[in-house]
Amino acid sequence: MSDNFIGKPFQLDSEVKNGVVAWRSPSNIALIKYWGKHGRQLPRNPSLSFSLSNAYTETQVQYSTREKTRDTVSLEFLFEGKKNDAFESRIQKFLNSISTNFPFLKNLDLKIESQNSFPHSSGIASSASSMSALALCLTDIEYELHGMERNEEFFHKASYVARLGSGSASRSVYKDFCVWGTTSLEDKYDDEYAVPLDKVHPVFEGLHDDILIVSAKEKSVSSSAGHDLMIDNPYAETRYAQAREKLIKLAGLIENGEIKVFGKIVEEEALSLHALMMCSDPSYVLMEPASLEIINKIRAFRDSTGTPIFFTLDAGPNVHVIYPERASQEARAFIVEELLQHCEDGRHIFDKMGSGPQKISYSNKI
Ligand code: DP6
Repeated sequence: MSDNFIGKPFQLDSEVKNGVVAWRSPSNIALIKYWGKHGRQLPRNPSLSFSLSNAYTETQVQYSTREKTRDTVSLEFLFEGKKNDAFESRIQKFLNSISTNFPFLKNLDLKIESQNSFPHSSGIASSASSMSALALCLTDIEYELHGMERNEEFFHKASYVARLGSGSASRSVYKDFCVWGTTSLEDKYDDEYAVPLDKVHPVFEGLHDDILIVSAKEKSVSSSAGHDLMIDNPYAETRYAQAREKLIKLAGLIENGEIKVFGKIVEEEALSLHALMMCSDPSYVLMEPASLEIINKIRAFRDSTGTPIFFTLDAGPNVHVIYPERASQEARAFIVEELLQHCEDGRHIFDKMGSGPQKISYSNKI
């Protein structure tokens, strides 16, 4: 790893006066969950996820050079076309915190515009897609300013910076499956940034993740507060060891195409995350009755038909239904007939594994 991705010093006499970059970056769903962190956004255990297709953020950064260096970053921030002070101050703080990674930040005036493909209050966390889109834009500006070649290191740096904004965002800079965090699986995996998982059986190509919105309310506990609860959780060390072990197993199953055991581990992971929250102090029950109805129906349907259909959950009540492309007809019919009735106002997002982030020419509409 290159010394924590410290950026090259920016020359004030640089020829570059202004420019614009824009990236679209997807959300991702973790199958082995990141839950518990330390230091500067370092994970207590490795996590494994895949990137989605329909749930994404588009971010555009316009920049122009200033006459002289200042102490803080100059920023104007628009969310979905409107000024948003709360988001602006969060982004401003973040940008100030990464100025050693991007020394040019203190020499530029920035205007950042961002929008999501999914409604803000849909119960879908936007931090993974939004922080990864921003990190990709900033890394792109650096590479542009210094005429650097966009190679593997480009994505490592984008992932590193995205991680500093939100841990799960580190995994959104790639398509398909990826791993964030050190594991004995292979040396290339790192706590500082995510790396793609390259041995994937064709059965997992285009894996579905249909998101059933049981509640669109704000989360009862933020991810950061949730991670903090692991500090005093009596099962913390057992959990970290379990996640390390399960990640190695799951990676092997993804390589060999063993989808049934894969699904078993995916469900165990989701329930372990919720169990950890139930036995934290204070304790949280994050599922709603409808989440359980959906889980029970998925298990009963799988048992009676043999369809490979599974669930996972983030730290909230919404259920992610996971199934392979080859089971898509029967799975989708079952979801429509049996599960959507448990969603808040029938809300859902039919999503699947996507082609990863893309550099775009920005338009104001998604
Ligand atoms: C349950 O990445 O949102 O979704 O690093 O504090 O921003 P911060 O946390 P965040 O945590 C995500 C937790 C999770 C599991 C996962 O995505 O791995």
